[in-house]
Amino acid sequence: MKWKIRQEQDGDETPIADVTRAAFAGKAYADGNEDELPAKLRDAGALVLSLVAVAGKKIIGHVALSPAKVGDAKWLTIGPVSVGPDHQGKGIGSALVNHAVAVAQAYGRGGVVLTGDPAFYGRLGFVHSDALTHQGKPSRHLQAIAFDGEATGDVEFHPVFNE
Ligand SMILES: CC(C)(COP(=O)(O)OP(=O)(O)OC[C@H]1O[C@@H](n2cnc3c(N)ncnc32)[C@H](O)[C@@H]1OP(=O)(O)O)[C@@H](O)C(=O)NCCC(=O)NCCS
Repeated sequence: MKWKIRQEQDGDETPIADVTRAAFAGKAYADGNEDELPAKLRDAGALVLSLVAVAGKKIIGHVALSPAKVGDAKWLTIGPVSVGPDHQGKGIGSALVNHAVAVAQAYGRGGVVLTGDPAFYGRLGFVHSDALTHQGKPSRHLQAIAFDGEATGDVEFHPVFNE
């Protein structure tokens, strides 16, 4: 199956929500609202980057990049990341994250921080730091790629992630 990555365009909104819902369906760690997050970020003007993976015209994956803070420093976060269940394990999720990190690097921010499975993100260069906290608490799921300075401090994601 051939697939490629392109930027979100008009008309992608519903397929992005659909692929996100399908990817997270039944996952023990899912909050159940992941499919709403791309639209909420878009509506808030916080969707810094929205990439889709497409096979033909079908959207089979998505990644969002949005602003975050580490302490007082401006960083970016990646998420949600979704690949449709029929298309997982083919390198699409890794490619989406790698592209988002590459774009993030051009934004002149401190780096990219996220909450996710270290088994997946660790292989893409994300590193856990005990110096990172979220709402005052450390977590093994907090990981970062620092572009400038160190990943140290409390992480603040866009408020839509707390809704
Ligand atoms: C996580 C996700 C985006 C990865 O996309 P993908 O296209 O399947 O990923 P890739 O094919 O690039 O995977 C690369 C490797 O990571 C592994 N991997 C995928 N998801 C993983 C996970 N959650 N934990 C550990 N390893 C994982 C794959 O098995 C693969 O390993 P392999 O090359 O040895 O076979 C996708 O599985 C997905 O949508 N999952 C449900 C939603 C989700 O969990 N999103 C991320 C939230 S943090």
